[in-house]
Amino acid sequence: MADPATIEAYYLENRTFPPPEWFKQQALVVDTWMYDQADQDYEGFWARQAADLLDWSKDWHTILEWDLPFARWFVGGQLNVSANCLDRHVEAGRGDRIAYHWEGEPGDTRAITYAELRDEVARFANVLKGLGVRKGDRVNIYMPMIPELPVAMLACARIGAPHSVVFGGFSAEALRDRINDAEATVLITADGGWRRGKAVALKANADEAVAGTPTIKHVVVVRRTEGDVTMVEGRDHWYHDLMADPAITVDCPPEPMDAEDLLYLLYTSGTTAKPKGIMHTTGGYLTQVAFTHKYVFDLHPDTDVYWCAADIGWVTGHSYIVYGPLANGATSVMYEGTPDHPDKDRWWALVEKFRVTKLYTAPTAIRTFMKWGTQYLDRHDLSSLKLLGSVGEPINPEAWVWYWEHVGGGRCPVVDTWWQTETGGIMISPLPGCTTLKPGSATFPLPGIGAEVVDDKGNRVKVGGGYLTLTRPWPSMLRGIYGDPERYRQTYWSRYEGRYFAGDGAKLDDEGFFWLLGRVDDVMNVSGHRVSTTEVESALVDHPSVAEAAVVGARDETTGQAIIAFVTLKGGETADPAHGEALRRHVTKKIGPTARPKTVVFTDDLPKTRSGKIMRRLLRDVAEGRDLGDTTTLADATVVDEIRRRAEATPTEE
Ligand code: WT7
Repeated sequence: MADPATIEAYYLENRTFPPPEWFKQQALVVDTWMYDQADQDYEGFWARQAADLLDWSKDWHTILEWDLPFARWFVGGQLNVSANCLDRHVEAGRGDRIAYHWEGEPGDTRAITYAELRDEVARFANVLKGLGVRKGDRVNIYMPMIPELPVAMLACARIGAPHSVVFGGFSAEALRDRINDAEATVLITADGGWRRGKAVALKANADEAVAGTPTIKHVVVVRRTEGDVTMVEGRDHWYHDLMADPAITVDCPPEPMDAEDLLYLLYTSGTTAKPKGIMHTTGGYLTQVAFTHKYVFDLHPDTDVYWCAADIGWVTGHSYIVYGPLANGATSVMYEGTPDHPDKDRWWALVEKFRVTKLYTAPTAIRTFMKWGTQYLDRHDLSSLKLLGSVGEPINPEAWVWYWEHVGGGRCPVVDTWWQTETGGIMISPLPGCTTLKPGSATFPLPGIGAEVVDDKGNRVKVGGGYLTLTRPWPSMLRGIYGDPERYRQTYWSRYEGRYFAGDGAKLDDEGFFWLLGRVDDVMNVSGHRVSTTEVESALVDHPSVAEAAVVGARDETTGQAIIAFVTLKGGETADPAHGEALRRHVTKKIGPTARPKTVVFTDDLPKTRSGKIMRRLLRDVAEGRDLGDTTTLADATVVDEIRRRAEATPTEE
């Protein structure tokens, strides 16, 4: 594990940004009362949020049962997520409010009201029932960013069938493994989706995946790109045909769910080659995502137009495009495509068109816009913006200040939000009406959240660097890893007694601000996407020409980290650029484009300790062009010089 003290510090900015006066005047929280209240009784605090923000069909009898490391929140309580996200808004007379301003990449649009969304979800829930889906059955979803994606998720939630969404950029093999782990009976997909003007085929991947999944009985296909697809008689059904069946009505009472019933699985990469099925349940999850969406983004549902520009295939989209915003009755923008199609001003055109007030995106996107230049922003009126959010990786102060100045016009608070797939919702973040900001710092744990930095031995660090830990259960915490309680305990709760180990390095400055430093384990963060070094390594050694592979994440100006692979080929294989490209393609096929190495360096040997462990630290130093530190534990010190020479001679992919 990396020592956080050695992680190069580009942080510790001294500039401070107090909440702008105009913002404070309309903000939901302008002083520390919420922190004080939560400090006195954090369980009571969360119970108040659960009661204030959600409708329950049955009250809970116990706020929290904590059998470390297994938490149960709002025990005995019942509610339905889809009813909370849809029906109650319609019943309260807000059915005409827009839930999503959706825009497809080609420019087609659809404005969907809460009433329309409720009806479409209820109908599709009936379709799923007709396909034999019952409460507790898992449903896989593999879709582009089209309205039918949240419809599918909410329909699952309505009938109590946990969904498992697989990001549309993942490969057929990745999809197959996730379906098999969840043993899903139904897969919902589309013919394809639009990306940079091209139709990306999804159904073809789905077919390849389903060929290796014994449990799938039905595949529902949304028509999006009108591309050629093969429909398997009896197994595959067009979404639109199923929905047009006169027997399918809008009458579908939401299933009462226990607070602790499984809402969804979402797979994320860990330090081994096998992704973890992170489990999120119903009551606590919805409480925390609704709470954080409301207070971190200072939501005014009557007037705000909120846009989280993530993909729903990641947790950010689950919590902050679907569940949080809908629970709060917000109006959101949802966009299918890339920021540079047809031109590099697409996002700013969308902000102008929909008068977006709150924008939530990732540092990698911000750095890309910086690189493209401000002329693309200058073409558009961005004066509707009131608040900007950042998530997914540490934001460097330069990017933060650029975001503040050029996107926010120097008037919008920037909330840097730290959290993870496992935490379900935002954990460390400013409250924009009361927190003074420092560019690059996620500031403080939210009310009700316990976070501390500890050293190697688990001693609390009050000022300085160490490892980020969470000190008490929180409502939207993962309930486990699907089918593997031992791995759950081992991964998160075994390193420090009684503390959740996040896998991130962090520093506390002398005013108690948290500065997140990135992963300290073998997990890379590429454009805000989590990629496991081990997973890429096993994809590489799976190729018949590869003898050995070591993968590291090297700092990258745009993507945060870039994947650099060091590969030793089997005897007789040629180490040339074409071979490097073949290996990159192989990784894309095995995992997906997010895992594609930027550089493949061929080397005759890898640096190893005398006990045979690959020294990734040295490889990272090589990849980042740093001076090598202590190499005395190396079995053969000349290996590194050779690797450095090769690395310098290897062209990288743009
Ligand atoms: C990892 C979690 C949270 C949704 C998107 C990613 C890094 C996330 C921040 C931030 C510094 C951050 C951490 C974390 N991370 N947000 N604001 N500052 N680092 O979810 O794929 O589960 O990745 O992303 O390293 O552990 P994820």
